[in-house]
Amino acid sequence: MPEDDVARVAELLRGAGKVVVFTGAGVSAESGVPTFRGAGGLWEGRPVEQLASPQGFVADPVVVWEFYQQRRANLTRVKPNPAHEVLARWQYRFTSYTIATQNVDGLHQAAGAQHVLELHGSIWVIRCSACGRARVDRTVPFPALPPRCETCGGIERPGVVWFGESLPEEVLDAATAAAGSCDVLVVVGTSAVVYPAAGLVHVASAAGATVVEVNPEASAISHIAQHSLRGPAGAVLPTVDSLLGEA
Ligand code: APR
Repeated sequence: MPEDDVARVAELLRGAGKVVVFTGAGVSAESGVPTFRGAGGLWEGRPVEQLASPQGFVADPVVVWEFYQQRRANLTRVKPNPAHEVLARWQYRFTSYTIATQNVDGLHQAAGAQHVLELHGSIWVIRCSACGRARVDRTVPFPALPPRCETCGGIERPGVVWFGESLPEEVLDAATAAAGSCDVLVVVGTSAVVYPAAGLVHVASAAGATVVEVNPEASAISHIAQHSLRGPAGAVLPTVDSLLGEA
């Protein structure tokens, strides 16, 4: 990673008032949370439609729950990494600051980030597929799968957005508004191939924001980014932060 790139991004952020950070699985990789795509990713060799779609859940809720329960169990053993910590601290630095994440792991919040737009929901929210009752539940493991709704007895599901489902409207609207009016959009650890979330990068770019990417590899939005910092987020973001100086 060339030093002058990092310095230029730090300079850019020093002069920025409104900043949006858009994150994906890569920001949690150094915490020990596997990403989805690529070697060793969660989807490698897995039937995605079977595990992360409404149809797959109707066909076999227990198989789907076993997958999510394994992910929940893994998450009880991990901690936020320096990338999450820097991104949480930046909430005190800018006039306007928004973290919009595709991650369902809650690690931004665990690092202290107060307002996180969870575009794909949360793995810690459980929702009844019959009556819609939703609640935060950190039980790992559940005594029996699938968990059942205490109110209506219906089958409960993970409160995440599956392939083919809509994103929570208010969350997407808030993220779109923030992206459309920011000075700088920092895209961290996402392949940016899943829409509508990845559309936030286009919204920001079309509105004139400077786009910065932090990712060891090129992604689907690299051609839009004015700055690409090629390295792991847990190393790159603390370096940028150290160059920013005191808030
Ligand atoms: N630091 C920064 N980026 C990293 C790191 C790291 N240490 N390690 C890996 N990456 C990058 C990879 O190069 C890749 O571009 O993180 C990205 C992870 O991409 P995906 O696995 O596709 O994850 P994501 O973009 O979050 O997926 C989007 O797809 O499966 C659905 O709903 C799921 O929210 C998810 C969405």
